[in-house]
Amino acid sequence: MMTSETEKRKDEHIDICLHKEVTSHITNGFDQYQFVHHAMPEIDFHDIQLHTSFLGKTLKAPFLISSMTGGTTKGSHINEILAACAQHFGWAMGIGSMRTLIENKTTSTVQHIRKVAPDAFLIANLGAVQFNYGFGIEECKQAIDMIEADALVFHFNSLQEVFQPAGNTNFKNLLHHIEHAVKSLPVPIGIKEVGFGIDQHSAQQFAAVGVSFIDVAGAGGTSWIQVEKYRTDDPIRKQATSAFHNWGIPTATCIKEIRKTLPIPLIASGGMSSGVEAAKAIALGSNVVGLGRTLLPNAVQSEEACFQQCETLQFELQAAMFGIGCSNIKELADAHQRLKKQN
Ligand SMILES: Cc1cc2nc3c(=O)[nH]c(=O)nc-3n(C[C@H](O)[C@H](O)[C@H](O)COP(=O)(O)O)c2cc1C
Repeated sequence: MMTSETEKRKDEHIDICLHKEVTSHITNGFDQYQFVHHAMPEIDFHDIQLHTSFLGKTLKAPFLISSMTGGTTKGSHINEILAACAQHFGWAMGIGSMRTLIENKTTSTVQHIRKVAPDAFLIANLGAVQFNYGFGIEECKQAIDMIEADALVFHFNSLQEVFQPAGNTNFKNLLHHIEHAVKSLPVPIGIKEVGFGIDQHSAQQFAAVGVSFIDVAGAGGTSWIQVEKYRTDDPIRKQATSAFHNWGIPTATCIKEIRKTLPIPLIASGGMSSGVEAAKAIALGSNVVGLGRTLLPNAVQSEEACFQQCETLQFELQAAMFGIGCSNIKELADAHQRLKKQN
């Protein structure tokens, strides 16, 4: 069983993300870009196709449900609804950190996910820092097997750990563990942040050791420093959170900078909240668009509410594509010259 302390922390994260002000004070950067509207798109709206290929598999639309809840009872119910969306809409889905499930040798709160979403592209999740706290290849394999994952992503969350009570803060020498994981594990390995962004230099280092994809999880949405502000009892850390409202690399900047030098599959996530932003992200160089906290309130409310939100996002993406005359994701990916940066 998950310890009550861990369960409490995970449920607190969900509650704080639902009810407190935890948004970064900087934007994700997509507000600085505008598409040039095409008055004569020369396509039929009904012919617009959203499917795309990601790591050799087909997604029916270029969306990922970002890793959120791992293993509590409350989280399990949310995951079930999100998994139903992933299955219905053919999106990819990340599971929240599976560390505690492995430590406590329990699968009960995640094993239903593969049953609910037999065809979805599912991504297992572990903190990269856990390699310095006793985890190895065996634990990675367990995470993959638990949900019959199509890929495994390691999250880098240095600042969350340093603001979190009793966080794991030894981030030394993790790259060689990532390289070993890439060579030893049977599925593609990805890297993600949790809301402060992946910089170009780190991306190059990850690509050099064979990582298959990068989810930038940039700034502009959920700030985990602000989340931890509501949990910590440490007056120093609590006070310091306000100096970090603007911390991180905006999502749009991450995509633009990494894409300059690397052809690696990229996921744009971090504060993504509409299909128009998704269209901008793809035109800027991302392959898939990840949505985190923006899905949470509807996932807590009901399956119907979550389905409606997913449909809205897809409609917004299609309408944006219509507005610039793109009939498929390949054309949208080639449409960067139709995206103008505002001064
Ligand atoms: C309630 C909640 C729990 C999360 N748990 C995890 C996690 O376990 N592992 C992880 O890699 N990211 C986790 N994240 C971070 C998200 O995957 C995402 O990177 C981050 O929230 C930024 O995206 P957003 O602005 O769309 O929320 C969590 C996010 C939320 C809102």
